[in-house]
Amino acid sequence: MTKEYLFPEGFLWGGAQSAYQTEGNNYNNDWYEFEQIPGNIKNNEKCGESANHYELFENDHKLFSNLNHNSHRTGIEWSRIIPEENEVDDEEIEHYHKVFESLKKNNLEGFVTLYHFTIPIWFERKGGFLKNKNLEYFQQYCDIIAKNFPEIKFWNPINEPGVVPLMGYLYGEFPPAKKSILAYTKVYRIMMKAHSIAYKSLKKYNPKSQVGIVKNLAYFYQKDHGSLWHRIISSFIDYTYNQVAIDAATRGKVPFIPFTYKSWMKDTIDFFGINYYSAVYFKFKLGIPVEMVFKEEDETEITQLGYGIYPEGLYQNIMRIKNSYNGPIYISENGIGTLDDSLRQRFILRHLFEVHKAIENGADVKGFFYWSTIDNWEWAEGFEPRFGLIGIDYKTKERQIRDSARMYAAIAKKNKIESDIIKKVFG
Ligand code: BGC
Repeated sequence: MTKEYLFPEGFLWGGAQSAYQTEGNNYNNDWYEFEQIPGNIKNNEKCGESANHYELFENDHKLFSNLNHNSHRTGIEWSRIIPEENEVDDEEIEHYHKVFESLKKNNLEGFVTLYHFTIPIWFERKGGFLKNKNLEYFQQYCDIIAKNFPEIKFWNPINEPGVVPLMGYLYGEFPPAKKSILAYTKVYRIMMKAHSIAYKSLKKYNPKSQVGIVKNLAYFYQKDHGSLWHRIISSFIDYTYNQVAIDAATRGKVPFIPFTYKSWMKDTIDFFGINYYSAVYFKFKLGIPVEMVFKEEDETEITQLGYGIYPEGLYQNIMRIKNSYNGPIYISENGIGTLDDSLRQRFILRHLFEVHKAIENGADVKGFFYWSTIDNWEWAEGFEPRFGLIGIDYKTKERQIRDSARMYAAIAKKNKIESDIIKKVFG
């Protein structure tokens, strides 16, 4: 008989999305400006109205709840709350109150992000997160949020502190399109500091709130599997991209970089959120890593972003966090961009098996958020990648429930993966 996978009581089942990627009609941040420049986005698409979640949130929350989700990860758009320097928009505060009331009405525990890659234009003009001094503006934003939204229990203020430094300051593919290793390290450090600022602010006003870090943990495959040289290089890159943030968040210090993360990071997480998508490999030339690839040569199941599928990496990442941190763990994002919904079903199940295995081996994983609830704006890739459990017809804004959403709903309802589901998906 096929094994059944029961999850711990009270496990949170939900989906994740971000403000900018789904709300639509955000015209006051760095991404909006970036999209106006031809060549920056695939097919020169623009986020525009996106899925219009800004107006349709109640409808969407109802759908999630009908699909048995009991939680939901979403975000607040900073440029709506503070559209100009020192100017707070009370109507937007009111709007997010309505959003959170609707979550409550639909029995969805909210996990809320304050920064998910977008910054207000006025903040960008000041140099954004490249300047330490600008953190005072981020602090203002956090204080306003903390004072105004005591109804939220779970916060993950900074989404993936390493991604914008990498994509925006080293690779130049996200705004502000810089290519500098110095800027990369500086912004990464400031992002971590921003996390600690948000933590202190949210706890000051709402001591009972739970504030966690959400870190995208790439699984650097050659670290464990390559030749000796590949292992060394891959371990080094893993150290700078993953471990530095893990150490800073879980221990308040980073070995070998004593002055980089000081005590300000200590005790600033109540949970660890893992975002996981794929394994990462390097192509080497003359012993130097020259290209980062996300799939092995002969892989056949590929996502729309060109990633292979490596669920074991999620297990490895969970155990890595478990071994260095005592608190609760959430899978704050895991998902696939694909037009093949049966592949999405296999993807979800294979990753959930790994989550379950980690729980069996002692990891305190308390929830899983599939990325994403609804199709949305995939940054420089535009609207092409389809990550949603629920599809969006961008012309009509019609919501289309996919079979993967129904499968996920069946798991959430029973809090377990029954053998019928496994048979149906894998045959
Ligand atoms: C980001 C999302 C993005 C997703 C899929 C995550 O790392 O948080 O904004 O859409 O990856 O690429």
